Amino acid sequence: MQQLRGLLENNRRWAERMTAREPQFFAELAAQQTPRYLWIGCSDSRVPANEIVGLRPGELFVHRNVANLVVQTDLNCLSVLQYALDVLRVDHVIVCGHYGCGGVRAVLAGDRLGLVDQWLHPIRDIREKHKDVLDALGDDAERSDRLCELNVTEQVRQVALTMALRDAWQRGQRVTVHGWIYGLGDGRIRDLEVSIDSSAGQQFLTETRR
Ligand code: CO
Repeated sequence: MQQLRGLLENNRRWAERMTAREPQFFAELAAQQTPRYLWIGCSDSRVPANEIVGLRPGELFVHRNVANLVVQTDLNCLSVLQYALDVLRVDHVIVCGHYGCGGVRAVLAGDRLGLVDQWLHPIRDIREKHKDVLDALGDDAERSDRLCELNVTEQVRQVALTMALRDAWQRGQRVTVHGWIYGLGDGRIRDLEVSIDSSAGQQFLTETRR
């Protein structure tokens, strides 16, 4: 309980600081949110979305799960995406993975963690798909880093394949999907340069339909 009391105390001081700086801050936010970005990231406590990109409350719509996966049967993630595109009309969807991801590591090590192993199944598929590339790498750390990157690239693809994004592009919405990766060791984000914008999206969908 002592620890939780600390959190509530932090919150009280934070709210006071914000209000002192901008008296209307919470009143305006309560009236509406107009985030320009949807963040799809890992649940890892070391990758706090708003903080690492310097955005304030109201500026980032966030979905996080273990290993930043976009699964076509996951109503939770798909609903967040659909709401972000149809209602909030975000301009950018950012899939941000991170090096040293526990989910990716568990797949590589073949660890048995419980139900979460089931959740991580898509990463096993990615590992199989890129087995040659991964096996050719020098050590486990390199393999882990590479699989973290490959996972982000695949999830960007999965976002582009959702009905919500197809519909948005069809409507002429200019939405771009980005793939980023965060380094736990240096706090820096790298753009993997696998973005799909609305014109590339049309091309992508034509290709995947074949
Ligand atoms: Co992770």
